[in-house]
Amino acid sequence: MASISSPLTTNNVCASFSLFPPQTNYSKSKRRISKVSCNAADNNNNEDLNISKGNRRDVLIGLGGLGTAASFTYNPFAAFANPIVTNPKTCERPNLPAGAKPIPCCPPKIDSDKVNDFVFPTKLPQERVRKPAHLLTPQEAADYKEAIKRMRELSPDDPRSFTQQANIHCAYCHDSYVLKGSTAPPQVKVHFNWLFAPFHRWYLYFYERILASLINKPNFALPYWNWDHPDGMEIPAIFADRRSSLYNAKRNANHQPPVFIDLNWNKKDIDTSGDFADNLSKVYRNIAAVKASDTFFGLNFNQGGGKSAASGTLEQLHNTGHSWTGDPTDPNGEDMGSFYSAGRDPIFYCHHSNVDRLWTIWKDKFCGEDFPDDDYKNSSFLFYDENKNLVRVTTEQCLDPSKLGYKYMDVPLPWEFAKPKATTTKAQRLALPPTALNPPKLPLLLNSITSFVVKRPSKSRSKAEKKKKEEILVFEVALDKSKDVKFDVLLFWKDDPTKASPKNREFAGSFVNVSHAPSSKDLAVQYQIEISDLLEDLEADDEDNIEVTLVPRYGTVPVTINKADVVYQVLSSRKC
Ligand code: C2O
Repeated sequence: MASISSPLTTNNVCASFSLFPPQTNYSKSKRRISKVSCNAADNNNNEDLNISKGNRRDVLIGLGGLGTAASFTYNPFAAFANPIVTNPKTCERPNLPAGAKPIPCCPPKIDSDKVNDFVFPTKLPQERVRKPAHLLTPQEAADYKEAIKRMRELSPDDPRSFTQQANIHCAYCHDSYVLKGSTAPPQVKVHFNWLFAPFHRWYLYFYERILASLINKPNFALPYWNWDHPDGMEIPAIFADRRSSLYNAKRNANHQPPVFIDLNWNKKDIDTSGDFADNLSKVYRNIAAVKASDTFFGLNFNQGGGKSAASGTLEQLHNTGHSWTGDPTDPNGEDMGSFYSAGRDPIFYCHHSNVDRLWTIWKDKFCGEDFPDDDYKNSSFLFYDENKNLVRVTTEQCLDPSKLGYKYMDVPLPWEFAKPKATTTKAQRLALPPTALNPPKLPLLLNSITSFVVKRPSKSRSKAEKKKKEEILVFEVALDKSKDVKFDVLLFWKDDPTKASPKNREFAGSFVNVSHAPSSKDLAVQYQIEISDLLEDLEADDEDNIEVTLVPRYGTVPVTINKADVVYQVLSSRKC
């Protein structure tokens, strides 16, 4: 069997990456947002709205209310919101997209008196090490398959069963948990907000404990799909073997090994295999380059103030893994391509294991910080444990994986320095006509490639100012969330927009939606991109306006851009 380290030597990768010079700017400061400024002038401090721990949600209302860079809607009532607390008695039938077979997603009926609060295991088995799925020993692979086989054999009404485990995702992602007495939002949602990372961490934790108990191996650890390394970019072989309990027929037939995942998939298999350099640039952009917690995790969600949904770069990156894996011949992309069905594919949990791992890496290596807010830390979810007891867990309890008894095997991060270079130099750019001259006519129906300019409230800021405040390009996007959507955002792009890829520095990011609960009542979502470093790299930091090009890639439903602004988020310096 392959040794752990040898398949992951990066010689081949690094050779191809010599065009991306090592960058170290991510490590200069450890930061988190402490307030948002909607006024660009750094010396105009009285325009800043101080956002302390207690009224953090006002930031979100603020972002939601941005009409121009200078407007800011302050919602005094939002400051009294509560953390999200899932009530087991309020689980209702899911709100599924059209065409989905109606299924009840709620857990088996319970007497809520019997909900136990989670306590950290006192007698932890030896720390569980989650390994890349392609590096499991034959014994580890056999254990994993056996555990899933036994999970599949449990009666469907056993809360530990394969069906019930899959239903957990459906219930939390399709509005089953009604928040009684709450007006906005009316249901618990774990996508497009800051609950995404902690919810999925807990989900995997109990799933792993159940699998461990089913094979009576307390040290069993869930592997991860190491799609951020070229050695792990194909669907791991253990999932593709038709005789394996890990196999699932509802996957894209064109995306079987040795085809690489395409983390920038546009639902077109032009050359079938994903481009690993694009993939690494994409991971660089969404993980290594991100400074602010809001940008990384998404915006807050709570009963009184969570009006401003936004997913972070972590969630955005993961979305494409769903769409790429699901079966395109199914109207809803089942299983992975739709959130109500995604948990039915065993690969879902390995995909999320990697997402969870990238969260730990962002904190440990790139100075990322979790939110300090009480309404974040006190948000709670319900899960059945390996003994079929219903357990209430909080976000705070999951922030340190070592307390939960697991860690991730370290492997090289070939994306760490995969920052692309600008395609055009400043001189070349200035010699060409501007991509656009006018601001967008809002609301803008995004049904074709569209360019416009966004005015910057400030330019050529000093290094110290940039360290204090990150420049953010923020869009408000209205869409039907039950439909898949992707559009790319290009800055100062002078070539054919359809040719831009993550290997171009001008490629600022992609907005990606994976079908989840229909959202006729939902408000528009925010999409924010950090641009301070990006504008420097494009030699465009002295420009008054940003030339933006939006490239719709898929999504047949109307997508509307309600707002497009530049704002400044205050980052507090930290030790790293
Ligand atoms: Cu709950 Cu991969 O999503």
